[in-house]
Amino acid sequence: MTPIDPELMARLNATLPSCRLQISRLPLCPEIKLALLEPDLPQGPLPHDEMLAVLSQPAYWAFCWASGQVLARQLIKHPQEVRNKVIIDFGAGSGVVGIAAALAGALRVICCDLDEDAQLACGVNAKLNGVHVEVFGDIDTINIEADLLVAADVLYDRDNLPLLDRLPDFARDVLVADSRIRHFKHPKYQRVGQANATTWPDLDEQKAFNEVKLYRLVR
Ligand SMILES: C[S@@+](CC[C@H](N)C(=O)[O-])C[C@H]1O[C@@H](n2cnc3c(N)ncnc32)[C@H](O)[C@@H]1O
Repeated sequence: MTPIDPELMARLNATLPSCRLQISRLPLCPEIKLALLEPDLPQGPLPHDEMLAVLSQPAYWAFCWASGQVLARQLIKHPQEVRNKVIIDFGAGSGVVGIAAALAGALRVICCDLDEDAQLACGVNAKLNGVHVEVFGDIDTINIEADLLVAADVLYDRDNLPLLDRLPDFARDVLVADSRIRHFKHPKYQRVGQANATTWPDLDEQKAFNEVKLYRLVR
C-alpha cells in the first residue's frame, strides 16, 4: 500500500485534526489516484475552533470536485486536446485535471493554485501517478502562453468571475468546467458539453452541483 505523504497529512491536520487522507481512485477516472480525505467524514458539527480554522483555510485540495472529475475524464477520453501541448490547470486543488493532462500526453503541465497546501498536494499527487507537473501560486507569475488553460470548479468564488475575461491572456484555448453558476452566460464562452459527477469523497451536495457543464473559449 502506498504510504500517505506525512507533510500533506500534517497540512490537513492543521485545520482538521480528526481527519485522515487516503489514496483513492476516482469513480469517473479510475486511472487517476489521489490523496483525498477518507470517505467516512466526521459526522455532526465540528468543534468551534476546528470550524473557524476550516473556514479560514478550507482544504479544497483534499477533495476531487465534480467539475474536476468531469474535466479530467474529458482529457483522458480525448487526448488530442492535450497531446504534445503546454497546459495550465488553473485552481488545480489536488491537481486532478493537470494530472489527467499529463497522463494523456501533455508536453508540459503547470498547476496553478493560490493555496500553498494545494501546491504541495499537486506535487504529491503527480508523483503518485508517475507524472510531473510544475507548480505555481499566482497565475500572474506564470510567464508563458500555454496552448490550453483548464479550470474546474473555480467559479464558486464569485470574485473569480472577472477572471473569465483574463484567462485567454494565458492560453490560446480555454476549457472551463463548472456546476456552481446556474445561468452561465459569457460572450467569450460557449457550452460544449455536460456530464454528471459527484465530488469525491461524496459530500452529498445538492443535485444541481453534480451537473457539470463544459465551456470553451470562443476566439
Ligand atoms: C473547488 S477547488 C477545485 C479544485 C480542482 N480544480 C478540482 O476540480 O478538484 C478550487 C481551487 O481553486 C483555487 N483557487 C481559487 N481561486 C483561485 C485563484 N484566483 N488563483 C489560483 N487558485 C485559485 C482554490 O485554492 C482551490 O484549491
